[in-house]
Amino acid sequence: MRTRRTLQVGRDLLMLALLLSLAGCRGCPKSSPPIHLNPNMDNQPKLRAQSASDFFADGAAMRTPVAGTVARGALPVDDLFQTGREGEGYVVGIPTPVDAELLARGADRYAIYCAPCHADSGNGKGMLFQRAQIESADLVEPRLVDMPSGQIFETISQGLGLMPAYDYAIPVADRWAIVAHVRMLQGSDPTTMSVPNGPRVVAAEGESPNGADEQGAAP
Ligand code: HEC
Repeated sequence: MRTRRTLQVGRDLLMLALLLSLAGCRGCPKSSPPIHLNPNMDNQPKLRAQSASDFFADGAAMRTPVAGTVARGALPVDDLFQTGREGEGYVVGIPTPVDAELLARGADRYAIYCAPCHADSGNGKGMLFQRAQIESADLVEPRLVDMPSGQIFETISQGLGLMPAYDYAIPVADRWAIVAHVRMLQGSDPTTMSVPNGPRVVAAEGESPNGADEQGAAP
């Protein structure tokens, strides 16, 4: 008898506990944070801007940017040097001092990035032509000899037809070094083409090289 009663009380208590736990899920507002049984990495320590920190030697939570860091969109753009253009015009010459060092760099980069298609001599019959009969532009033809350096620079940067863009792979200064080397292949003396005293610019003829993209595109 006694045990049955105890059992009954036990069952009632269990029911009550269940009911209470259900009620607990009803989402009544509480000011204290919920009990977090398995914290995993949900909350992690962090430092706030402008606050102190004993982790870093200088005692500040904020780090100074690495020297030379440029914030997105904050690059000081020298149009002529970065784009080969000023407004609609292309620079005729080469907007950086052209010396033996630049020429050596240009020859080196040309051999890597251009010669496979345009050939060492620039005649457009590089390995791509020898192996796959795909002709690239002849860089020493008169049309390209007359082309402003800025337009050649833009072709390297943006690509044209089958030729890919190289702006991601070749830094700006190296692109100008390559332009100087191309000038040399064309029989000009690039050291006389440096534009130290202000830009010499010509108006763009018709479309930009990239505007003509579709003409030379793969069939
Ligand atoms: C994958 C092969 C390939 C590589 C690598 C390549 N080119 Fe070209 N390039 C071409 C082809 C193909 C054309 C012709 C594009 C057209 O007219 O549609 C061309 C065209 C050109 C032109 C002529 C643009 C015009 O207006 O007619 C220039 C200048 C040029 N390339 C320079 C370079 C230089 C400099 C490099 C090295 C940075 C280079 N190319 C790398 C394939 C290549």
